[in-house]
Amino acid sequence: MDLIPEPAPNIRQLLAFYLEAGVDCALAEEPVDRLAEPDIPAAAAAVREPATLRPAREMASAMPAVPRSEIAPAPEAAIASAREAARTAPTLEALRALLETFEGCALKNTATRLVFADGNPEARIMFVGEAPGRDEDIEGLPFVGRSGKLLDRMIAAIGLDRSKAYIANVIPWRPPGNRTPTPQETQICLPFIQRQIELVNPDVLVTLGNPSTQTLLSTRDGIMKTRGKWFDYDTGTRAIRAMATFHPAYLLRSPSYKRMTWQDLRAIAKALEQAPSP
Ligand code: URA
Ligand code: URA
Repeated sequence: MDLIPEPAPNIRQLLAFYLEAGVDCALAEEPVDRLAEPDIPAAAAAVREPATLRPAREMASAMPAVPRSEIAPAPEAAIASAREAARTAPTLEALRALLETFEGCALKNTATRLVFADGNPEARIMFVGEAPGRDEDIEGLPFVGRSGKLLDRMIAAIGLDRSKAYIANVIPWRPPGNRTPTPQETQICLPFIQRQIELVNPDVLVTLGNPSTQTLLSTRDGIMKTRGKWFDYDTGTRAIRAMATFHPAYLLRSPSYKRMTWQDLRAIAKALEQAPSP
């Protein structure tokens, strides 16, 4: 029996295939052969690396490979310069301006724009997610896509809206194709979100999902264990009450966890009632 050859796909079918595979944006006009790029000399990188960064690097090497051109050449230097830059930012405006000119995180090169924050900097409650997605990258605001609509409902459940809440992410640039940020990228961006929390100085900090919770509350426990409990988030000058809950994107896929989320939100609302207003 003869095999009938498949007809070559037309452009529309090819694009549909790419979309299905998760490719939803083009980064450049011309293709880039990543395999032709030179390796970062591993020995040189190891020598420069402080011991405190080694666990992060080991985790990074266990993660799926990131194209080499997306890795900034000297992450330890980028982390040090991020720390220094963030520390010197006296206001949220200054911090945003610093991030606009910060060149230490390669995610900036593939993102459309910085996604700094939304909401009210005077708010008593601050929500922190992981990283912007496609809609956020287009609009330049956090949580404006489908999961953002659910976050709005979560905020409404405690009697507030975006004019009475402040919203940001650990990572302020969209990782290409929504891939998971590397531990290195997270470490580079961490001083900025820490400074942002310190400057907003909310009464209650809410971390959304595992990555934000584990990064900000310094825990390795999963969200099933961390959610609904009070943590102290230490800014260095004061302790802020912090609670983890499920990420709205997770709730869209697993709506049965909404019940627990709404329990967490009730506890948060109660804490806001008790905490002294400014
Ligand atoms: N998911 C996040 O963690 N942050 C956003 O801003 C959007 C989706
Ligand atoms: N994993 C996450 O990262 N967040 C959740 O909310 C649930 C599972």
